[in-house]
Amino acid sequence: MSEPFDLVIQNAHVATASDIFDADIAVTGGRIVRLGKDLGAARRIIDAAGRVVTPGGVDAHCHLDEIMSGPVRMADDFHTGTRAAACGGTTTVIPFAAQQKGHSLSAAVQAYRQRAAGKAHVDYAFHLIVTDPTPAVLQQELPALIAEGFTSFKIYMTYDDMKLDDGQILDVLSVAKAHGALAMLHAENADCIQWLTRRLLQAGQTAPRFHAQARPMLVEREATHRAIALAELVDTPILIVHVSGREAIEQIRWARALGLSVLAETCPQYLFLTADDLGIDDSYHGARCVCSPPPRDAANQEVVWNGVRDGLFTVFSSDHAPFRMDGTVGKRPDGCEVSFERIPNGIPGIETRLPLLYSEGVLAGRITLQRFVELTSTNPAKTYGLHPRKGSIAIGSDADLVIWQEAPCTVRNTRLHHNVDYTPYEGMQLKAWPALTLSRGEVVWDGAFHDHSGHGQWLRCGLPTILPNAPSHARNVIQPR
Ligand code: URP
Ligand code: ZN
Ligand code: ZN
Repeated sequence: MSEPFDLVIQNAHVATASDIFDADIAVTGGRIVRLGKDLGAARRIIDAAGRVVTPGGVDAHCHLDEIMSGPVRMADDFHTGTRAAACGGTTTVIPFAAQQKGHSLSAAVQAYRQRAAGKAHVDYAFHLIVTDPTPAVLQQELPALIAEGFTSFKIYMTYDDMKLDDGQILDVLSVAKAHGALAMLHAENADCIQWLTRRLLQAGQTAPRFHAQARPMLVEREATHRAIALAELVDTPILIVHVSGREAIEQIRWARALGLSVLAETCPQYLFLTADDLGIDDSYHGARCVCSPPPRDAANQEVVWNGVRDGLFTVFSSDHAPFRMDGTVGKRPDGCEVSFERIPNGIPGIETRLPLLYSEGVLAGRITLQRFVELTSTNPAKTYGLHPRKGSIAIGSDADLVIWQEAPCTVRNTRLHHNVDYTPYEGMQLKAWPALTLSRGEVVWDGAFHDHSGHGQWLRCGLPTILPNAPSHARNVIQPR
């Protein structure tokens, strides 16, 4: 007699990026080992009762426990951040290991691995943030880190303590090209933002809503165009992160039409928020929705939905950047209200990312279930070299699964699991929420959170496998652990 499986999920309506089929799913040792019917005995059986089962979400852009300049602190560390991820159906997160100017990048990676160690409830990898591309970083540290499994890095074109100039960007892109890594660009024109900010402050326009006026779409359009040109010069793929609206999208469509390998990411705030959420008067309430690029207007939301639908976007991430509104050093850096340019940028969304898109994308008829899986799980896993271990329901893949409950529910911050004291989506009526989340075979959420501190493992990323020019040996291979 053969050994019983650890777990069988019966009666699953399985949705992957390519197929929809009914099956039972057998799990042993944290991996999917069989798919089919009448699979045999199991130590534990979960009846999915015909509900949709998708691969666990891969949130390829979130900020956890990042070291900030000044006294400001992020509200979520790897414990609370991955707890919220699990309860919202996300089983892999890719936050950032950020270099500080004047410091080593490798040291930053060690520090961030320490910050995550023993805390995470779901698996995690890291993108790098390169803020100081010294010869040592370009020639030794980056190549060594890519070989160790840190295969993507974010480049900022704005924020004084992070931004690179065009020459530095070209240097970093050249390293990406030489080693097959992927650069992610935060595309906003820093000088225009500074100039606009100065004028707004001089006019006494300091409320949160002026953040959106300091970062109009043209600053994103210009930087997106420049990022594309720099990547074309070096001849390497790039991914433009957190694309907010029509003008940046037009640049990306133009680049694609030229045959350039330009990938794009968008986030819930560009589908569900508008600039009005930063305030229609001078109330500080709008600080909650201060993020960059800022949310635009309803017409731009539709343009972003089109890109979500038609394949322009490769990845749908949360860009979870958690800052509290209370007196702790978050959105009120000195414990009090500050002018818009001093409000920490970013909004929480790690737990609501999947339910929002499932409800308003799939169940509202805007996208198919397969496209939902592609955007939220399979594509991010492929883009960052984690597929098919992640982002897939297939034999050999990790048993990272979500069973969906399709029923009305209301977003309430009191029901969320992050350490932030608000959600920008408070009161929104949704149509679905994960009933159960499985991380490598362990139930981490079934309406209650099950603490698995330290269960989450660091993942070594391979090279991207979604790019037209990806090396063929990198495709469709279970990554070594
Ligand atoms: O406003 C944002 N997006 N904050 C998080 C940091 C970043 O630029 O992604
Ligand atoms: Zn950014
Ligand atoms: Zn971000």
